[in-house]
Amino acid sequence: MSAEPMLQTSGLIAGYGNAPVLRGIDLTVPAGTITAVLGANGAGKTTLLRALSGLIRPTGGRIVFDGVELGGTPVEHLVRRGLVHVPQGRGVVEELTVEENLRLGGLWRRDRTDARRALAEVYDLFEPLARRRRHAGHQLSGGERQQLALGRALVARPRLLLLDEPSLGLAPRVTAEIMALLRQLRDDTGLTVLLVEQNVRSALSVADEGVVMALGRIVVATGPAELRDDEQLRHAYLGF
Ligand SMILES: Nc1ncnc2c1ncn2[C@@H]1O[C@H](COP(=O)(O)OP(=O)(O)OP(=O)(O)O)[C@@H](O)[C@H]1O
Ligand SMILES: [Mg+2]
Repeated sequence: MSAEPMLQTSGLIAGYGNAPVLRGIDLTVPAGTITAVLGANGAGKTTLLRALSGLIRPTGGRIVFDGVELGGTPVEHLVRRGLVHVPQGRGVVEELTVEENLRLGGLWRRDRTDARRALAEVYDLFEPLARRRRHAGHQLSGGERQQLALGRALVARPRLLLLDEPSLGLAPRVTAEIMALLRQLRDDTGLTVLLVEQNVRSALSVADEGVVMALGRIVVATGPAELRDDEQLRHAYLGF
């Protein structure tokens, strides 16, 4: 793990129109770690990921990614630098085949040879996708769609992966497989992950740090065990 954080925000403010949703986010994500972002519906988790990945423009504060301050940097530049977002609802293109969806992940890559290698690695990682490479997106199960969304992100060779609710709608076994994969990618390749989850137990089972958001602010930032074990905190913010 390097001493330099992969991502650091200070006083980040962003929202839609004139209404701020994020009301000053100070977040540090160490390189090579998984940070879980938890919190109730509407807390601003998705908005945070959108602001980080350049989909919405912050109106205040700073974002430093991999030592460089971002400010209106186009999404494709961020992807080339390794900041890759898997949106909530996954964004699989229904009409395209598995392979075409995966190739979209390499769209901004300049190194075509490595993009092909990355595609082969994704097929090694997700055997169902290899078998169904000519199937259309709409023919896939929920678990396969999530694999496809993750696979597409991996084709882009991320250094920081922003994941928005990967467990949504998936069976517990499939969710557990995805969490195990994130752990493996962190341990084997040093991938840094910001993992937004409603499934608190699953997220905390792989996370190195946990932050809880409420009303556009980070209200708690601590270790996963502390979050799991603090009953008051769980009742107040996590609903169990
Ligand atoms: N496109 C949009 N335009 C206007 N307001 C929005 C938009 N998307 C979200 N909001 C508002 O921003 C606030 C935070 O929403 P956000 O989607 O970031 O929450 P979340 O924590 O991801 O919630 P969930 O757990 O339901 O996914 C909510 O009040 C929501 O209504
Ligand atoms: Mg959300």
